[in-house]
Amino acid sequence: MDVVCILWLSVFVMITFQGGHHALSEDRESNRHSRQKVTVQSGELKPCKDNDHLCVTDSSDCIPESSVIQGEVKNISCFYQRNDESITCSWNSLNNYNGDIEYTLFFSSVRTMYDCPSIFNLAAVFNVTVRARSNKKTTLALSDPCVLDLCAAERPSRPNITSISSMTKNSLHVKWTTDKFNFNATVQCKIRYKVTTAAQWTQVMDNSIVDQRGVYTIEDLQPFSSYRVAVSCTGGCGQKHWSDWSTERLGSTPETAPSKPLNVCQHIEPLNSEGKRSLWLMWKALDVSDTHGNILGYQVHYVPPNQLSLGRTVNTTDMGIWLSLIDEEYDVRVMAYNGAGGSPYTYCKITNDLQSEYGFLQFYYGMKLGEGHEEF
Ligand SMILES: *[C@@H]1O[C@H](CO)[C@@H](O)[C@H](O)[C@H]1NC(C)=O
Ligand SMILES: *[C@@H]1O[C@H](CO)[C@@H](O)[C@H](O)[C@H]1NC(C)=O
Ligand SMILES: *[C@@H]1O[C@H](CO)[C@@H](O)[C@H](O)[C@H]1NC(C)=O
Ligand SMILES: *[C@@H]1O[C@H](CO)[C@@H](O)[C@H](O)[C@H]1NC(C)=O
Ligand SMILES: *[C@@H]1O[C@H](CO)[C@@H](O)[C@H](O)[C@H]1NC(C)=O
Repeated sequence: MDVVCILWLSVFVMITFQGGHHALSEDRESNRHSRQKVTVQSGELKPCKDNDHLCVTDSSDCIPESSVIQGEVKNISCFYQRNDESITCSWNSLNNYNGDIEYTLFFSSVRTMYDCPSIFNLAAVFNVTVRARSNKKTTLALSDPCVLDLCAAERPSRPNITSISSMTKNSLHVKWTTDKFNFNATVQCKIRYKVTTAAQWTQVMDNSIVDQRGVYTIEDLQPFSSYRVAVSCTGGCGQKHWSDWSTERLGSTPETAPSKPLNVCQHIEPLNSEGKRSLWLMWKALDVSDTHGNILGYQVHYVPPNQLSLGRTVNTTDMGIWLSLIDEEYDVRVMAYNGAGGSPYTYCKITNDLQSEYGFLQFYYGMKLGEGHEEF
């Protein structure tokens, strides 16, 4: 057996590891600047008995705290989600206090707040304040009142991907729905996708304006691959906030014929007393990146160019084949096939001047004879 053949075999045996250790080292780093977050639903809001400029979720927030300095809770940002009538605010954690801290939000206005459960609407402008309490209910800190214009603060809800289908071997057609905006808003969306095993997302169509029924075709994908896809849109009243990414959906591109010819190696034995000789062919499995599907088998076609009627085709799932040839020239071609078709052929020519040389070895690496394939 040839040295190259032996090398191939050892490649088969070698176990290759893919995959990763993903260090989760960011946790500690992010803790230093960690953010706290509270969501208030409109249904949780209650009026204060003696103050019609306040709406609270916890009645103890009705009592003013003149002894506590405002502004200790910092860097508040909020968004309003119309679909579930909620406001979510986040801020920097208080880091000079070691016990458990409980945070509440309360809403105030210079104007009278007549009906607390209905203050969350696109026309509303009021202040939100964050209060931090210890587990003994003493107020530790307050934020400054932060003005909230709910139109500017509107964040659309996450879109829903309704379908993903493969249009071609290299593309996926994605459809989704967004919030129904009851005015003439422009909706902008972005899509991200990745092969299911990949770590990195690819983002496309940033800031493209789409209909409320979004449609997009992701191009330049690999065939026979499974992708994760998610969509995010903006388009609320203030056009400022992006929605969360939609739930990820899976889409797959279809199988296509293998793209590369096989590397075939051959060994021919001398003519025996019956006027026949043995031809051994061996090949190496295609690279996973070239198979584009599940390899179902290998097809070998061999024919004397002067006697086409003697042509034979053999299918095998083995990584090699033994053929008994009569004393003739032969054209041999080998390919791998999957459910979608065959790879380009690897051609070999067996000449009859080899017949007398005992143990003659000859190796062809996809030598092109006749019709060939450019990529080889
Ligand atoms: C304030 O919060 C935003 C996120 O909302 C963050 O990007 C920024 O770094 C924060 N600033 C400070 C000073 O913590
Ligand atoms: C929000 O609070 C600030 C400071 O207390 C105040 O000047 C402003 O009028 C308030 N805005 C509303 C809409 O109540
Ligand atoms: C997405 O689907 C969920 C569940 O069917 C629904 O509650 C939500 O309103 C939909 N969101 C959008 C933006 O279509
Ligand atoms: C909505 O936008 C479209 C396209 O920009 C425009 O033709 C149409 O007049 C707008 N309709 C309203 C009611 O503003
Ligand atoms: C070999 O496999 C190919 C592809 O699946 C098939 O079309 C053909 O009929 C098979 N030939 C034989 C001889 O089994």
